[in-house]
Amino acid sequence: MKQITRDVVYIGADDTDLDLFESQYIVPNGISYNSYLILDERVAIMDTVDRRCGEQWFAALEAALGGRTPDYLVVQHMEPDHSACIAEVMERYPSLRLVATERALRMLPLYFETFDFEGRTQAVGEGDTLSLGAHTLQFHLAPMVHWPEVMVTYDRADRILFSADAFGKFGALSHDEDWACEARRYYFNICGKYGNQVQALLKKASKLDIATICPLHGPVLSENLGYYIGLYDTWSRYEAETEGVLVAYASIHGGTAEAAEMLAGMLDAKGAGKIAVADLSRCDMAEAIEDAFRMNRLVLAAASYDGGLFPPMVDFLHHLQSKGFRNRRVALVENGSWAPSAGREMTAMLEKMKDIDCVTPVVTLRGRMKQSDLGALEALADALLA
Ligand code: FEO
Repeated sequence: MKQITRDVVYIGADDTDLDLFESQYIVPNGISYNSYLILDERVAIMDTVDRRCGEQWFAALEAALGGRTPDYLVVQHMEPDHSACIAEVMERYPSLRLVATERALRMLPLYFETFDFEGRTQAVGEGDTLSLGAHTLQFHLAPMVHWPEVMVTYDRADRILFSADAFGKFGALSHDEDWACEARRYYFNICGKYGNQVQALLKKASKLDIATICPLHGPVLSENLGYYIGLYDTWSRYEAETEGVLVAYASIHGGTAEAAEMLAGMLDAKGAGKIAVADLSRCDMAEAIEDAFRMNRLVLAAASYDGGLFPPMVDFLHHLQSKGFRNRRVALVENGSWAPSAGREMTAMLEKMKDIDCVTPVVTLRGRMKQSDLGALEALADALLA
């Protein structure tokens, strides 16, 4: 339990032994499911937590309540990592009223088939308010950040923005680490597709006088908010954050990997900025996606396979496409011992993305990189940086 302001208390939970968040993202430092309690004349619980941490959450809730009875449960997001304990807390506190968007309320039966919410819910829309006494909560819709029913809540008294998934990050609160690295990996993999909707939320937030951001994952942010908001603005505009190159390769027997490493060295020597190299067969795919969005340039190097493209690269490009990857300069290297096809396949997949500037020509390797290939790789590095 941590005091955020005099009346606002953190009652969330750290999940430190989760193998995969959303069954897909590795979280080596765990993740937090944040929940808050506002103690005023009337008491509001801000979201619940994942069922994995239900016991811990109920204990924190009871301790923070100090014998009081909560009046409202504000549900900003219905995804189960935040909504799992709704029915149980409503059962424990029979006078508790659930406040959420109309769309969120329509989702309740999807998750709580047998619980009777009749007469216990209150739908709120854009700009609606709820007075707790000294604290007035003001609701703002944030559809698709990250589900359609999402809203954020502004507490006028303490100037807190309860921001739902926005400004969240991977990593348990018990693990002290740099915010941007895991917030960026979280953002591009979870909200990356919804840049326009994040922009709409930032526009609404810019009209609020915010002192503190309380997200549903990661630390409470209360200093230097311009830094976090600035990064969110860059990310949601699909602009590069860092001058640099991600060299992502998919190599079967090491030949393509060797060429990719050689090209990375050339780019570094030519002053390309930050260089990251990703072996798509082995790396954390979510981190490769994060780096692709972070840098202003991308190199894709892949082996041909079954008359097409080696699957780890197919997987990477599918991920990029589904996350709305765009607005980048890309260079391609293909490898094929008898009928190179990787370049054609990568080009076709990139053509489905917006504003991708593919430099030409594609460099074609046959088996192992040879001395005679170095000139073409140098030329590709120059063309990418031009
Ligand atoms: Fe943290 Fe979209 O749930």
